[in-house]
Amino acid sequence: MSFKTQSKDLPTPNPVLQVTNLDVYYGESHILRQVDITVFPGQMVCLIGRNGVGKTTLLKTIMGLLKPRRGQVIYEGQPITQLPPHGRAKLGIGYVPQGREIIPRLTVQENLLLGQEALPSSMGTRSVDKLDQVFELFPVLKTMLTRMGGDLSGGQQQQLAIARALMGEPRLLVLDEPTEGIQPSIIWEIEAAVRRIIQISGIAVLLVEQHLHFVRQANWYYAMQKGGIVASGPTEHLSQDVIGQFLSV
Ligand SMILES: Nc1ncnc2c1ncn2[C@@H]1O[C@H](COP(=O)(O)OP(=O)(O)O)[C@@H](O)[C@H]1O
Ligand SMILES: [Mg+2]
Repeated sequence: MSFKTQSKDLPTPNPVLQVTNLDVYYGESHILRQVDITVFPGQMVCLIGRNGVGKTTLLKTIMGLLKPRRGQVIYEGQPITQLPPHGRAKLGIGYVPQGREIIPRLTVQENLLLGQEALPSSMGTRSVDKLDQVFELFPVLKTMLTRMGGDLSGGQQQQLAIARALMGEPRLLVLDEPTEGIQPSIIWEIEAAVRRIIQISGIAVLLVEQHLHFVRQANWYYAMQKGGIVASGPTEHLSQDVIGQFLSV
């Protein structure tokens, strides 16, 4: 697979994430079939596909919330297939699940500080500096520090969920439908923030997304159908055909 921002003369960088030959079952139902994906540092990679094809199942397996029957998850060259979720978080994989899951009865500030739990205590930027960085990305959060998470709008909760994941200083950020059910103006803000995160920190982002404009911001797409990857390529090659087939728009 080529890396579009990479010139031919430079060596290909090592992938931040490699998923190889993954088979995942729920009980006896075979959900993921021989899934292979690769994400390079600094890339935004988008997973597309209609409802129920297995996108969330793939992200959960990458995060260690589901165990594959076959195949490997390799992070920065190291197999992590046997690591529990918190071990993966410690290694630098941040995750925002579908439906966000911020903690409604904690304040915005408490939710944010929880995001640092993944970091080994001796490491990491000071909390205040880290908070300043996330407020730059999501200014609305700064005005709401003492509000309960549950009192925020859906869009604000999503911003909080992404900000919380960033507090753990991930090198790979995994987002499951960050704009689902969110009003258009906030979709733009989230999209811009994700682009900016990659620009300023150079981390990689793997996301599931349905909004075409957002999908097109990615470097690379993988399209899923019935638990398998059936198409992939640079997002500028996404034709109307492919879009019609794989996005529920
Ligand atoms: N907890 C579960 N138990 C059994 N089957 C599930 C469970 N969660 C999802 N599935 C099934 O797995 C398939 C893939 O689901 P999912 O990964 O959530 O799809 P997507 O995120 O692409 O909409 C669907 O057929 C769904 O019904
Ligand atoms: Mg899903």
